[in-house]
Amino acid sequence: MKINGKDYRTVWIKDGIVKMINQPLIPHKFEIVDLKNYIEVHDAIKTMIVRGAPAIGATAAYGVAQAVINFDGEDISKLKGQIKKASEKISHARPTAQDLFHGIKYVKSAVKSANSVEDARKKAKKAAKNYADESVLACKKIGEFGNNIIKQNDKILTHCNAGALATVDYGTALAPIRIAHYNKKKIFVFADETRPRSQGSRITAFELGQEGIDHAVIADNAAGYFMQKKEIDMVIVGADRVAVNGDVANKIGTYKLAVAAKENKIPFYVAIPLSTIDPESINGKQIPIEERSQEEVLYSYGWTDSGEFLRVRIAPEKSPSRNPAFDITPKKFVSGYITPEGIVNSEKLKYLIR
Ligand code: MRU
Repeated sequence: MKINGKDYRTVWIKDGIVKMINQPLIPHKFEIVDLKNYIEVHDAIKTMIVRGAPAIGATAAYGVAQAVINFDGEDISKLKGQIKKASEKISHARPTAQDLFHGIKYVKSAVKSANSVEDARKKAKKAAKNYADESVLACKKIGEFGNNIIKQNDKILTHCNAGALATVDYGTALAPIRIAHYNKKKIFVFADETRPRSQGSRITAFELGQEGIDHAVIADNAAGYFMQKKEIDMVIVGADRVAVNGDVANKIGTYKLAVAAKENKIPFYVAIPLSTIDPESINGKQIPIEERSQEEVLYSYGWTDSGEFLRVRIAPEKSPSRNPAFDITPKKFVSGYITPEGIVNSEKLKYLIR
């Protein structure tokens, strides 16, 4: 992705340091964070310095690889203990995004056959690089397939941020939008604000602005209004986990959008790499839903025009809140899954499970 004219990935590793774009600061500041070890990697995922399922997956892969690359000593059995500790810690950072577990498993299985610490270091480095490169390629393919269903002058609604910053590059839901824009299609994007973390107004709008894609940020409650007024031609969202039957866990509010889209006969697409499909969740009921801190709902934060950071309470002092981070959209609301293997229905999705 281009940020201020320069090419970036969301996360990468350099000289044993995991590096990433600090997402809570977007769009007000652009900063790269350095993570020295797997505990810092865990904390960055947990506190959402990095967020979005495929980006979390790549970060987890880099985190496990980092534990191997920076291992001090030559005892392979001690290294195996270190890999176990790092994997366990990172796997507890957030519960819903399937890619987290996929990323950890990918690097772990690549180093399994190592016969020395040096061999493990080489294998871990290569595996983490391959994981990130494959993820970029998968998102690019999602973009190419998704572009085929986007017509001139389409107005597209998206929720949360499923853009380049939610992946390693390109995005999932934003990949078809990017490719359509590169193909000179005139499109317009409605970016749902996505309270409480506001990934839509902060990050999606930032990415669309950087690419010069026409867009408007709308309050979450406005989507139904624009659907009724026939101002939305399609909805494209990403996913944190998709069950074997096609039920979709995605950012809270996705279900409400899908219901409104069906009522208004608007196609509702879910863009996903195969790493987001969970072979062990038979349906959406089996997907764990993260419940985050009450504070995210009770407070908001931002920067004043003069650059001062402000965090303000937006609810009465004694009111508590509930804060589920994701919801489940049953498969019957999904018009199609935009994958790196093509656009499929829930029946065909089963055959793509790896
Ligand atoms: O809580 P977040 O910001 O990690 O949630 C992100 C989402 O819900 C995205 O829509 C999803 O991960 C798809 S990202 C390509």
